[in-house]
Amino acid sequence: MKAIVIKNYGGPEVLQLEKVPTPLITDPSQVLVKVKATSVNPLDYQVIRGDYEAFFDLPIITGHDVSGEIIAVGDAVKNWQPGDKVYYSPRFGGTGSYAEYHLTDQSSLSRMPDNLSYEEAASVPLIGGTVWEMLVVRAQLKKGETILILGGAGGIGTLAIQVAKSLGAFVYTTGQSILHEKLQNLGADVVIDHHQKNYIQEIQAHTEGRGVDVIIDTIGGSTLSDGPLALAGYGRIVTLVDIPQPQNLIHAWEKNATYHFVFTRQSRDELHHITQLIEAGKVKPIIDTIYPIEDVKNAHQRLQDTKRERPLFGKIVLSL
Ligand SMILES: NC(=O)c1ccc[n+]([C@@H]2O[C@H](COP(=O)([O-])OP(=O)(O)OC[C@H]3O[C@@H](n4cnc5c(N)ncnc54)[C@H](OP(=O)(O)O)[C@@H]3O)[C@@H](O)[C@H]2O)c1
Repeated sequence: MKAIVIKNYGGPEVLQLEKVPTPLITDPSQVLVKVKATSVNPLDYQVIRGDYEAFFDLPIITGHDVSGEIIAVGDAVKNWQPGDKVYYSPRFGGTGSYAEYHLTDQSSLSRMPDNLSYEEAASVPLIGGTVWEMLVVRAQLKKGETILILGGAGGIGTLAIQVAKSLGAFVYTTGQSILHEKLQNLGADVVIDHHQKNYIQEIQAHTEGRGVDVIIDTIGGSTLSDGPLALAGYGRIVTLVDIPQPQNLIHAWEKNATYHFVFTRQSRDELHHITQLIEAGKVKPIIDTIYPIEDVKNAHQRLQDTKRERPLFGKIVLSL
């Protein structure tokens, strides 16, 4: 089968298209899936540059999203059969989805939403589980609350805006001016251009000094230390980003803030809620660009490049 193989850690240049043996079912609870599409996540460029070296032995195949069709099932698999359309996030640390076929345990599978194409479906599993975990499991966002989603145009942001809106929240987000209309169409009530304005001053002005109930941090930097200045008393900050520097949390103390640190692995139960929202027409996947798998280096380049001519809006998908 075709696969993108990584033999050395580095940038997009280490992603090599090769022929490798198609995996075979060796355990009765396994399922073989023909991958129709996958997507590029920041986690993939973090893996290929060696950030998670301790979890992998080279050579590796990365990729953390699958949409596809079941080809074969092990003897113990009773609820799935060849021909079923599925989507899921492969187990972190195992073989990834940048390949024509993917072998997985039945416990990772979710039924693909009826109203999505394979490309749309491939953009959802990793971020879908993460967004539900952030907004509902951790932040416990409620109807009528206010939320600030930093990084609204990214993969996480475009989905989080829609889910927060479906939960009845008033949504503030950050994004470049050229994307404001698109972000509002997703459900953002107020969009702050982070290249022109300081989000703390903007939130202070919009909320007359009260701050927001929840901040979602997809960008890192000084958000953990500065974020409380835009937070209401007893507010919650949920971050997805690892913390390379010690942080000064003095403002958090003043606000009685609660922090949640999220690193999602496989999250089938959380993804189930996103599937329901998609099928109800309340949430739709946003795709920035679809690349054929052969063009994976350019796909990675687009996600990693911080000086893009056209700003990123949604997910980058690889079709097979
Ligand atoms: N912990 C977990 O379980 C988990 C799961 C999924 C993702 N993540 C992490 O979450 C982060 C976001 O993921 P993603 O898939 O949404 O990434 P993405 O699609 O690459 O998102 C990038 C977006 O963030 C915006 N941005 C960058 N710096 C910003 C800043 N200082 N202020 C406001 N916006 C800024 C960019 O806007 P511009 O184009 O204007 O720069 C772009 O729209 C990544 O670090 C990823 O590793 C973690």
